[in-house]
Amino acid sequence: MRSGEALELGDRYMNRQLGRIVRTLGFDRDWRHGEGAHLIDAAGERYLDLLCGYGVFAVGRNHPAVIEALELTLREHTPSLPQLGVTALPGVLAEQLVARAPARIEAMIAANSGTESVEAAIKLARATTGRPRIAHAEHAFHGLTLGSLSLNGNAEFRDGFGPLLSDCTPVPFGDLEALRSELERGDVAAFVVEPVQGKGVNLPPDGFLEGAQAACRATDTLFVCDEVQTGIGRTGRFFALEHWGLDPDMICVAKALSGGFVPIGGVLISRQVRDSVFDAMERGVRHGSTFGGGDLAAAAALATLQVMDDEGLVERSARLGERLLELTRPLVERYDIVAEVRGLGLMWAIELGAPSRGSRRVVWNVVERSQPGLAAQLITVPLFKRHRIFCQVAGHGMNVVKALPALVIEEAEIERFAAALDDVLARAARVPRALAGLTAELALGSVRARMR
Ligand SMILES: Cc1ncc(COP(=O)(O)O)c(C=O)c1O
Repeated sequence: MRSGEALELGDRYMNRQLGRIVRTLGFDRDWRHGEGAHLIDAAGERYLDLLCGYGVFAVGRNHPAVIEALELTLREHTPSLPQLGVTALPGVLAEQLVARAPARIEAMIAANSGTESVEAAIKLARATTGRPRIAHAEHAFHGLTLGSLSLNGNAEFRDGFGPLLSDCTPVPFGDLEALRSELERGDVAAFVVEPVQGKGVNLPPDGFLEGAQAACRATDTLFVCDEVQTGIGRTGRFFALEHWGLDPDMICVAKALSGGFVPIGGVLISRQVRDSVFDAMERGVRHGSTFGGGDLAAAAALATLQVMDDEGLVERSARLGERLLELTRPLVERYDIVAEVRGLGLMWAIELGAPSRGSRRVVWNVVERSQPGLAAQLITVPLFKRHRIFCQVAGHGMNVVKALPALVIEEAEIERFAAALDDVLARAARVPRALAGLTAELALGSVRARMR
């Protein structure tokens, strides 16, 4: 009854600044429904959703099979969360995830979000090894609670929230020598790494992840893959780590695992970790969370895994990801403001850069210096307004636009996205005029935002 009030309610009772951002960009739609790869507004217009709820709707929004599993679980009045006791649904989920994971993984610690999974990994790594330090990659994103924030490579998220954990050491993503020299000091409990970095969609250089794993093994450091974003088919394998044949000690999962309906998370762990942390009866409940391992989340996750298999979504992600790259890589040649197009499966990004020369370059550089990352909005704003395609920049102050489509996306929609990109890039390439247009639009949006 009150869905038309969503923006006003958000402004008044939740995060007013988010409302300002949304209005300034002109993204202030009155969203009413979600279906598959699309969001639908009050006027019935369909928008291709390439944000995907930050990657949770891999099987598509409101997948009927997951809804059915949730309804069935509710109707069954299941004995969820006995706490001093266990139920079957989370056990079956753990069994299925362990079966899909590499050999070293034997168990799962249940959680309710990505960040909680990373917090658990930090604690478990320290308890297993008796070492204090955690190594992580620069520009990493592992979540926003204090422990995971300590592994976060971005000042925009960290500033003002300190002191964070002191024993966390960043190394450049891809710099094996830097990592080795940290690990050789012998006090690092774990190296935590996203196989593909979410902020910027940065792919690892050849040999880095395999080398990192080997360096961890050589120094008795645990090797932890954060697959919160890359897992559950996103990169064209069930876990991204399969691309490099990795066998980590822990794998963090969350996001897409429950089909986007129920908060979920988990750390998949080796026998060594499980037996070190839960090594005696009196230590049997030393880590956990009240809602972790609930029946509803597990039922949604089991249904999601079934959908992934039934609809061949992992293979689909690989195939459509290749198609998207094939269609969009030529943009690098076509437009001098496109520096790179990259991706793995349906985790994709386009990076813009200054035009090669002339007055366009001068204008671009002036704008970049005053507002880093603004140029990326030359792509996202017209994609939304002219083409009804919803996507965003891949991180603060960077000219990288990212797409995480639902894995059920139709090939025709991938083709429409590529054509729309070509159209908005052709306009954006006329730099001064495009920037003037964008600045006017954003100014208009920000007046509307201020008038609220
Ligand atoms: C790689 C990675 N780890 C952890 C997180 C944190 O997950 P959550 O937002 O569920 O806490 C994210 C979220 O984007 C992520 O991409």
